[in-house]
Amino acid sequence: MVRGGREVLASVVASQMTLHAEYGGVVPELASREHLKNIVPVVREAMARACVGFADLDAVAVTEGPGLAGALLVGITYAKALAAGLEKPLLGVNHLEGHIHAVLMEAGAEMDGPLMALVVSGGHTHLYLCTQVPKGEAPGAPNLWAAPMWRYRNVGRTVDDAAGEAFDKTAKLLGLGYPGGPWMDALAKLGNPRAVEFRFQPIKRRSMESVLPTRSAEDAVRMGHPEGDANFDFSFSGIKTAVLRYVQTHGMKDVVEVRRARLGAALKENPKLRADEAVREMPEVFDQQTLDLIASFQYAVVGNLLKQTFAAAESWGGRGVIVSGGVAANSELRRRFTEEAARRGMRVEFPALAMATDNAAMIAAAAWGKFAAGEFAGDEMRAQPGLRLG
Ligand code: KG4
Ligand code: ZN
Repeated sequence: MVRGGREVLASVVASQMTLHAEYGGVVPELASREHLKNIVPVVREAMARACVGFADLDAVAVTEGPGLAGALLVGITYAKALAAGLEKPLLGVNHLEGHIHAVLMEAGAEMDGPLMALVVSGGHTHLYLCTQVPKGEAPGAPNLWAAPMWRYRNVGRTVDDAAGEAFDKTAKLLGLGYPGGPWMDALAKLGNPRAVEFRFQPIKRRSMESVLPTRSAEDAVRMGHPEGDANFDFSFSGIKTAVLRYVQTHGMKDVVEVRRARLGAALKENPKLRADEAVREMPEVFDQQTLDLIASFQYAVVGNLLKQTFAAAESWGGRGVIVSGGVAANSELRRRFTEEAARRGMRVEFPALAMATDNAAMIAAAAWGKFAAGEFAGDEMRAQPGLRLG
């Protein structure tokens, strides 16, 4: 529940993490069934917490995509029914724009564009150049333009795994809990990040047509891009394989299997067990070699995200950097991005921890621009699992 695109009146999240943890990953059928079960009580609770009645709503916003088809369908069907029943406008939102607005709704008014946004989660690693629509050009009612309206251009993305996926898969192969990101973050603090050197290979350049409309240098300059053929893509499947090879060649397999069994049993008893608690309760399961490997992995992944993001910001004329999505909760990422931004005299912003992972408030915030512009969704709105932004 969000007022004016900025003010969160209530944010209720029905997390499915514990359920999916049993399977070591998200199970699509379970995800849509859980959505179906939770959607009505979650909306009711948000309305109650915000002390708002259905009649007070101005519009209903819902995620159109990208995401799992079944889960998207539950949200869209419910939102359509709610909007029709209340005779209120319906607004379709891109999930990735939602992640960007998790930051913009707090810091956006003070941040001048253009900004380079890194959206980094379990499913995505994307770089977007965000520019503000000049007030005079923004469609719709000017009195609604308390929050600035933004446009996006995708200037980089992963060619294989997402960064969060690399955290999760690496954690899994080391016998840790799910989702792996928070486990790796906590355990990396206990290891030596220089113990193992992971290198990122240069990525084969994808067709620049998807980034720039033409390859001509003139056009690149006109688009505000000085280099024309710079590559800000990511690849994270290699480092996961490198960790696996390291485990195999350093005789760590038995240690991993003991940890998997011990942690598996402990997590069965207490599914909410956190890494710091596990370390306290069973320190013998976390050998130094593994902790060093985890610290080195995280150091490399964060370093790669940092290098590409700031290079893209510089190249595209970004005046500030924003990072959002589940991996934006990572403590090393926050520290190193903050240090790098300070070194360059740039501003960097992250979402509040509660807004970093998926939530509905960021979707409502992103919908504000469409509401103000009168861009309402019709009855034909459908789930778009592969929807792109920019
Ligand atoms: O945005 P999100 O909640 O869901 C989507 O994928 O859309 O992101 C979840 C991802 C998972 O891969 C999880 O391991 C990762 O974010 N994550 C982290 C941390 N907290 C969550 N990765 C690294 N460090 C963290 N502290
Ligand atoms: Zn997400």
